[in-house]
Amino acid sequence: MDQRLRVHCFTISRDGIGAGEDQTFERPFGHVDPGELMSWAGAAAGWAYRGDGGTRGLDDYLVRAMNRNIGAEIMGRNKFGPFRGPWADHEWQGWWGDEPPFHTPVFVLTHHVRPSFALGETTFHFLDTTPHEALARAKEAAAGQDVRLGGGVTTIREFLAADLVDDLHIAVAPYDLGHGLKLWESPDELADRFHTERVPSPSGVVHYFLWRR
Ligand SMILES: NC(=O)c1ccc[n+]([C@@H]2O[C@H](COP(=O)([O-])OP(=O)(O)OC[C@H]3O[C@@H](n4cnc5c(N)ncnc54)[C@H](OP(=O)(O)O)[C@@H]3O)[C@@H](O)[C@H]2O)c1
Repeated sequence: MDQRLRVHCFTISRDGIGAGEDQTFERPFGHVDPGELMSWAGAAAGWAYRGDGGTRGLDDYLVRAMNRNIGAEIMGRNKFGPFRGPWADHEWQGWWGDEPPFHTPVFVLTHHVRPSFALGETTFHFLDTTPHEALARAKEAAAGQDVRLGGGVTTIREFLAADLVDDLHIAVAPYDLGHGLKLWESPDELADRFHTERVPSPSGVVHYFLWRR
């Protein structure tokens, strides 16, 4: 069964930064403004968090593609929430409210596991394990569909280092951030393992598509 591990709409600055290290409840991306970094996606008609209106075209197509044939997501604990270390309690259930936009099982990698719970159509499971084992669990849960690797930066880098990622769509915003968590210096770092196509969008971001050689 050909099940792929896919990264979608992951957005970085021109100098490779996808979030700040200084993440808090008030500033989930640290010093990075997610509204500015992700503005291309937020403007698209298909973006999960917007109401009526929005742009059509390439950016919208890519925003919609992130959910196609996805049966599970893997994310890092820092994407799931702003808390670090052992959980004080289990009240925190993620940023996404009563109906998270995943609608699949979500596997949160963490050294501090806690019981699974369901919110709407999404079930969150917490795993302290290797990328290989996490992917095996997610593929099983995805029941033949693909698995999305949702980030953040650390988790994507970890799965790239383990050579488990099949496809990446990375959107590069047209400005530098200077410091923060860096996905790459340049996509050339992955050229030995991935084909790369670079597609500028009218919105100003440049979409990079990478797929396994
Ligand atoms: N730019 C974008 O498009 C985008 C997309 C998604 C998210 N984000 C942002 O990216 C930031 C999060 O990225 P990040 O790089 O800080 O962190 P992350 O990748 O979300 O999570 C890293 C953490 O996950 C846990 N973890 C990862 N692999 C593990 C393993 N194999 N076993 C056990 N635990 C493991 C560890 O946490 P513990 O040791 O604490 O358990 C680790 O510190 C947030 O600000 C988020 O909002 C940006």
